[in-house]
Amino acid sequence: MVEKYDINQRRLRSGIHMRELAATVRLSHRMFIQPFFVEEHMTTPREVEGLSGILVHTESTIVSVIESYMKGGVTKFLFFPIPATRSTTEFNFSFATKIISLLKHTFGEAIWLATDLCLCSYTTHGHCGLLSTDGARLLNDKTVTILARYALELAQAGTDCIAPSDMMDGRIHAIRQLLNRNDFDYIAIMSYGAKFSSQFYGPFRDACHSAPAPQQLNDRKTYQISSANLNDALTTAVRDANEGADIIMVKPAAHYGDVIAALRARLLQPIAAYHVSGEYAALELLVKNGLATRAALHLETWTAMARAGAGIIISYAACHAKEWIEKEFI
Ligand code: PBG
Repeated sequence: MVEKYDINQRRLRSGIHMRELAATVRLSHRMFIQPFFVEEHMTTPREVEGLSGILVHTESTIVSVIESYMKGGVTKFLFFPIPATRSTTEFNFSFATKIISLLKHTFGEAIWLATDLCLCSYTTHGHCGLLSTDGARLLNDKTVTILARYALELAQAGTDCIAPSDMMDGRIHAIRQLLNRNDFDYIAIMSYGAKFSSQFYGPFRDACHSAPAPQQLNDRKTYQISSANLNDALTTAVRDANEGADIIMVKPAAHYGDVIAALRARLLQPIAAYHVSGEYAALELLVKNGLATRAALHLETWTAMARAGAGIIISYAACHAKEWIEKEFI
């Protein structure tokens, strides 16, 4: 029989030293990726509603912003280009490639630069791909062809990683094939493998002017995964891994720990958790209203993602990770 005090768990919680030793999860700033936005033809940086501390930057401010992130310990980035012109059929990717060349020429190997690959900032209707003429359907294969061409341009410009977030079928295979045929076999793909149709993308869509325009297809439910379908998420993510994705992302992250854990158990690829704009904004609102402590709140959230099995965390507060993790761990 077990005596009462043989199982006193409170000894392991008794002080900071014991808690640090007993922890099953340890965060490091090295696991973090900082997203950033740059908009074409904009003269001064603009704020994004709800995303405190995050600005949409300009071509002339982005270098100093990356420098300041690097001073805070960030080395990995996820770039969201916002081009000035939009279309339904013809897309010009030169703004994205220009910013990539600028950053890689300036910082070289000191930074790892992933670029989001999607058409939602390029289309007039805000959808992630081409629409059929009646506006009712997304044209999967035609979109994939354009995305692969876009990926090749991004690779030629010097991005270290392509991060497809469009959710078309077969895009990982098409991108991997085109990159390899052009000797870009060393460029990584971080697939938004389990990307759910979510209310938590609101501030991001404001930032990128990419909310789908109200018409026949007025949401992304026919291509992003339903939060009620775990099997769809697992099938999609495992398929992306089989098509050659190097990193698999789960997004949103905080409410999707079960998805992270299930993929961690099934795949050998690194799993990235993307704490998206609305999730970040929700935490910041708690802080703003005096209901939580900022560093501790983000650390607790990140710890939950790591505990579920994420080895990579994408967060709008990644620039604070080093400072916060050093200051107060648990
Ligand atoms: C583009 C894309 C989105 C996000 C990342 N890439 C928005 C969407 O799918 O509507 C969301 C990121 C965030 O909310 O922080 N497809």
